[in-house]
Amino acid sequence: MKILLIGGSGNIGRAIAAELDGRHEIIAAGRQHGDVRVDIEDEASIIAMYQRLPELDAVAVATGGRNGHLAPVAEMSAARYRVGLESKLLGQVNVVLHGLNHVRDGGSFTLVGGVSDAQSIAPQFSNVYMANAALDAFVTAAAVELPRGLRINLVAPQLLDESVEAYGAWFRGMPTTPAASVARAYSLSIEGMQNGQVYRLGR
Ligand SMILES: NC(=O)c1ccc[n+]([C@@H]2O[C@H](COP(=O)([O-])OP(=O)(O)OC[C@H]3O[C@@H](n4cnc5c(N)ncnc54)[C@H](OP(=O)(O)O)[C@@H]3O)[C@@H](O)[C@H]2O)c1
Repeated sequence: MKILLIGGSGNIGRAIAAELDGRHEIIAAGRQHGDVRVDIEDEASIIAMYQRLPELDAVAVATGGRNGHLAPVAEMSAARYRVGLESKLLGQVNVVLHGLNHVRDGGSFTLVGGVSDAQSIAPQFSNVYMANAALDAFVTAAAVELPRGLRINLVAPQLLDESVEAYGAWFRGMPTTPAASVARAYSLSIEGMQNGQVYRLGR
């Protein structure tokens, strides 16, 4: 398969590449690294990226861009909430919408979400949780009406083992998961037949 991997240089992206590389052709994309450059927060950049690429069998997204604005709810505003909605949520939604005509029949989209359940709530993350929950709903709804047998699934990890140093202080006591396990969920989505699934990792 020809697989576009957006966010290929990150923790999750590198693990996905390690999982899939021997079996498939990976085209890595990122804002600053990769075979092709794209900013998922810029719709024109997504359109331009697809125009430069051959027909694909799968699109895997391993980035939420800026992901969201971290602050207590009392310090949030509509403008701050837009950060997560325009990056993690609509950035990935636009990768799907503009990719529809660039992926072969039966191909797949795999997006990255995260936690949003009550037991995983951490302070200051309401913008990210909002985007994560909306991605769950988008994937579930889109899966039943994508054309040409196209499939879509969401990988929704808890904090990565690899990110404990950076973010562990917000998630004390919560389970973590290795990037390699997250990458296997991408393999299940891309190399399997499932559709409309949310793979929750680390609970
Ligand atoms: N890390 C965690 O614990 C965790 C837990 C749950 C969910 N997630 C989700 O998983 C995603 C990836 O996590 P990670 O730890 O692998 O992140 P990471 O190590 O920070 O890597 C981010 C990747 O995304 C690319 N990127 C950043 N902004 C972009 C943009 N606007 N457009 C296109 N590419 C962009 C970066 O490449 P360039 O430098 O080339 O731009 C890099 O390859 C997160 O964004 C988050 O949504 C992460």
